[in-house]
Amino acid sequence: MSKVAADPGHSAWYVERFRSMARQGEDIVGEARLVDAMVARGSRILDAGCGPGRIGGALARAGHDVVGVDVDPTLIEAAREDHPGPQWLVGDLAELDLPAQGITGSFDAIVCAGNVMPFLAPSTRREVLRRLRAHLSRGGRAAIGFGADRDYGFSEFLDDAAAADLQPDLLLSTWDLRPFAEDSNFLVALLR
Ligand SMILES: C[S@@+](CC[C@H](N)C(=O)[O-])C[C@H]1O[C@@H](n2cnc3c(N)ncnc32)[C@H](O)[C@@H]1O
Repeated sequence: MSKVAADPGHSAWYVERFRSMARQGEDIVGEARLVDAMVARGSRILDAGCGPGRIGGALARAGHDVVGVDVDPTLIEAAREDHPGPQWLVGDLAELDLPAQGITGSFDAIVCAGNVMPFLAPSTRREVLRRLRAHLSRGGRAAIGFGADRDYGFSEFLDDAAAADLQPDLLLSTWDLRPFAEDSNFLVALLR
C-alpha cells in the first residue's frame, strides 16, 4: 500500500493492464493451469495476493471453490466485478485468519503468483508463509512464484518457507513446468 500511496493511479493502471490483455485474447491464466493440474476437481483454493483476480477467476471457472485475498481494495473491487463467483476479500496476508472471518475449512492448494512475495514488507515474509501454511489442508500444497533481482533471494525464501514448515516438493523456473536451475531468474516453488 506504500507503493499505492506514492502512486495513487497504480491500482487502476494494474486493473486496466489485465483487462486490456484479456480483451486482446492474451493468455493470462497460465499459473491457474498449473494449479488446476495439482488438485482434484472441485478443490478449495486460496489465491493469496490475488490482485484483480485473473488466477482465482480462472480456477473458479474450472470448478474450484476459490477464496481470494488482497490488501488493495481497488483490486478486490475489480476482482468482484470481473470474476463473480469466488469470495474476494480485502486483507493483509500477514494477518490472515480466514476462520476468524467465518471461512472455515482448509485449502487443498494456495497460489501466490505475480511476485506477491517480494512485494511484502520483508519483516512479514515468514509470518505470511506461516499463515499460508496454517490454512493448508493435510496433503495440501502451495504454489509460490516470483522473479530474481527483487531483493528476495531464492535461498532466503526457501529458508523462510522451511521456518514456516513448508518443504519443497518441486522447484520449477516457469509456470509451464521447466525445471529450476542455479541460474534461473524465476522460481515457482511447489511446497508441501
Ligand atoms: C504484482 S501483484 C500480483 C497480483 C496477482 N497475484 C496476479 O498475479 O495477477 C502483487 C499483489 O500482492 C498484493 N499484496 C502485497 N502485499 C500484500 C499483503 N501483505 N497482503 C495481501 N496482498 C498483498 C498487492 O496488493 C498486489 O495485488
